[in-house]
Amino acid sequence: GKAVKPAKGFKPSADAVAATSAGGFTILSEKKLFLGQKMTVIQGDLVKISADAIVHPTSSNFYMGGEVGQALEKAGGKEFKKELDDLSKANGSLDTAGAAICPGHNFPAKFVIHCNGPTWNTNDAMQLLDKTVKNCLMLAEEENLSSIAFPSIGSGRAGFPKQTAAQIILRSISNYFVTCMTSSLKQVYFVLFDSESVAVYTSELGKLDS
Ligand code: APR
Repeated sequence: GKAVKPAKGFKPSADAVAATSAGGFTILSEKKLFLGQKMTVIQGDLVKISADAIVHPTSSNFYMGGEVGQALEKAGGKEFKKELDDLSKANGSLDTAGAAICPGHNFPAKFVIHCNGPTWNTNDAMQLLDKTVKNCLMLAEEENLSSIAFPSIGSGRAGFPKQTAAQIILRSISNYFVTCMTSSLKQVYFVLFDSESVAVYTSELGKLDS
């Protein structure tokens, strides 16, 4: 287990817990949505998380050059690279805001959901990020998955301000569960690498209406 200190200024809210999950990571904050899904903020490496699926922000050609992509490539080795090549051949290019799934190898997550998220300088970047997140959730749902782990899509290579990305992603997920009414997904993790993202997600999660 890897314990992490809460971000500076973080005060556990009523529904925050100090439990460990997803393979021994410390939960920094958590919110239960009205349909029972849990949204959970943890600090750590996405590649080490035990979840049905982890999300890889990429581009139309399944490029592994983002920050998460690099970590995945390193951990996944040849077996994962082969899955990605097969997926890329079968799928063709990934639509803008689209998502596609393949099995994982050499890391705990069973699947990887690749999504073609926007870069901050594209037109309609915010709407496209929202759409990207919803497409990841819909795909997880189609595959009947019960847990999914997101990095802060957009806020690395793609250049979104961290708070903007956090607000869009959290709202998008919460809105998704409001409209879908019933879901195989019970657990959504936000796996954050840097302390600025941890602070921003913790505070934005606290502000979110559930
Ligand atoms: N685990 C969790 N989060 C991580 C990790 C990790 N191992 N490594 C980096 N991060 C964080 C970054 O700090 C950032 O906040 O993940 C967030 C997303 O970073 P990127 O993976 O770079 O994703 P994104 O900003 O969406 O850029 C994707 O990269 O594949 C290219 O050009 C393609 O536009 C696409 C871009």
